[in-house]
Amino acid sequence: MGMDTAIYARNPTHTSMPLFDSATQAPADPILGLSTQFKEDTRANKVNLGVGVFVDAHGVTPVLPSVRAVEQQLAEAGASKSYLPMTGSPAYATATQKLCFGETLANQFAGRVVTAQTPGGTGALRVAGDFLHRIAGTLPVWLSNPTWANHKGIFTAAGHTLETYAYFDPAANAVDHDAFFSDLKAIPAGQVAVIHACCHNPTGADLTEDDWKQVAAIAADQGWIPLLDFAYQGFGENIDADAVGVRTLAEAGLPVIVCQSFSKNFGLYQDRIGALHIVCASTDEATRVKSQVELCIRTNYSNPPAHGGAIVTAILNDPSLATQWDGEVADMRDRIKDTRTDFVTALEQAGVSRDFRFLMDQKGMFSFTGISKDDVHRLRNEFAIYMVDSGRINVAGITPANLAQVTAAMKAVIG
Ligand code: LMR
Repeated sequence: MGMDTAIYARNPTHTSMPLFDSATQAPADPILGLSTQFKEDTRANKVNLGVGVFVDAHGVTPVLPSVRAVEQQLAEAGASKSYLPMTGSPAYATATQKLCFGETLANQFAGRVVTAQTPGGTGALRVAGDFLHRIAGTLPVWLSNPTWANHKGIFTAAGHTLETYAYFDPAANAVDHDAFFSDLKAIPAGQVAVIHACCHNPTGADLTEDDWKQVAAIAADQGWIPLLDFAYQGFGENIDADAVGVRTLAEAGLPVIVCQSFSKNFGLYQDRIGALHIVCASTDEATRVKSQVELCIRTNYSNPPAHGGAIVTAILNDPSLATQWDGEVADMRDRIKDTRTDFVTALEQAGVSRDFRFLMDQKGMFSFTGISKDDVHRLRNEFAIYMVDSGRINVAGITPANLAQVTAAMKAVIG
């Protein structure tokens, strides 16, 4: 009896080829796998500090009022649902370039930035990885230590090899400047360094404007290519201040690649909307780069979904809606900042042995708590509090309703 016959004999209703039987169980995603586990947890008091999704003080991920207003307009306008171009809507490209680089630089770069409207920031990163592979083959891609877990998967899947540069000093809970700059100086020409533009994920430890100037000088000297992951614009200081890294590198004349996400700052998580920007040296280079980016997109998802991009474009192009949206981003940012302070105060009042004041210096949704993996598992198993195994927390997940519970659990676990 052949192998196929044996399988069908075991399961006579099974009509597919035995090929699938060779699939082994893949490990759960460290972040989205945790979300699945959280959903399945039946405990009423469960708290999700895992995935980076903003929630308001009531624990709700809001649809921003500016987004709701535009969605109503879009529904009434009943625009065609025909395909977008492979790189998306040109109006979206112009609007997002201005948000990313600022009006002055965006105008200066006119015709030299290749922009693709992508399915989320993840889509932008993957198209960037595919594009680099298409033009240069397998490249060493340098990632921050630590970094967003998915960076590793994305650039490996695009065919690259991974290297790491030093970034964070866990003892100081801050950027390890000496080690960071020294590692950047060792990256060879033509290789790629992925740097978090602001609100470093997972540590919340950011670079200053002076740091960025040094990064620009090193990249120019060494000849490596900076690829900035820009997923949290507006969640650190404000829209323009958070763009200082991107703008400093672009202003220095470097061949910058930027991957923007609008999941967080527009709350468009499930609409999957982001942008890839590649700053080229000339319009001729941009034309050729665009043709390669289009090939990557065409053979992957053909052309992007339109809805999220239409919302972002409409808001950014209407001065009154843009001002409203800026205020909504400020409200989300302020809630996260206030929560950092409330959490540190509560931990101090509970007499927790460790000093957590560093949480107040960090930016954006995430911080590295320094909690060991064993303690992370105890918090999950015994207290229904979910955080990523690395000890990363999404600060926004702490609400007035669960602050006391989270604080008491931290005290119970770390003393
Ligand atoms: C996160 O880091 O939690 C977010 O960027 C969501 C994700 O896709 O991992």
